[in-house]
Amino acid sequence: MKKNKISKNWIIKQKRDIYVKQSKIEGYRSRAVYKLQEIDDKFKIFKNGISVLDLGAAPGSWSQFIAKKVKNGKILSIDLKEMDNIENICQIKGDFKENKNQQIIKKYFGGEVDIVLSDMAVNTSGNKNLDSIVTGELSMEAIYFAKEILKSDGKFVSKFFMGSTFKEIVSEAKKYFKETNIFKPLASRKNSKETFIICKLLRKYYK
Ligand SMILES: C[S@@+](CC[C@H](N)C(=O)[O-])C[C@H]1O[C@@H](n2cnc3c(N)ncnc32)[C@H](O)[C@@H]1O
Repeated sequence: MKKNKISKNWIIKQKRDIYVKQSKIEGYRSRAVYKLQEIDDKFKIFKNGISVLDLGAAPGSWSQFIAKKVKNGKILSIDLKEMDNIENICQIKGDFKENKNQQIIKKYFGGEVDIVLSDMAVNTSGNKNLDSIVTGELSMEAIYFAKEILKSDGKFVSKFFMGSTFKEIVSEAKKYFKETNIFKPLASRKNSKETFIICKLLRKYYK
């Protein structure tokens, strides 16, 4: 399908989408917020006073949600793209994989972190297999960074795409975490290969 046809279809879908409508009513910057809300409803990840790192945060709906759910917490968001400010959230514009940015993140928290979230994805190429591989690599990088900075009872949530990297991501996650769950929220489009991994409790020897 040609690129302008894909964008036309995307605009039609967006207009019909109940989550897009809902996000506009509730003042969220993206429909993605409802995926995180479902994850939190099911796995109870947020509470007051915790520290949260939001990887791939722009345009910012997850960060908006976290800011509402976590009172008196420490929240840092990072994205390659510029993002409008959100009250009580520290924001970095840059690539989370860069050593310089990882040092800034560590310095900001000044200790271990309660939750690492990743909704990172690369711009879609139209080739679903390629997109799943590249986003899978991002999820792997996020797991490696999360195991470095999480508390032993910390939680890690990441998006990835079902595809050739699925088994590798799940097996790496199981290596580092005692509890791993795969969950596709209702707000995640049915025809998308996107799904989420929710991990809890780092294994002792990785701490
Ligand atoms: C689906 S969007 C995130 C939506 C966001 N969770 C929200 O609720 O608004 C994926 C984001 O990942 C970001 N991203 C991709 N690679 C990244 C990287 N290496 N470092 C930081 N952000 C990255 C993209 O710039 C993009 O904004």
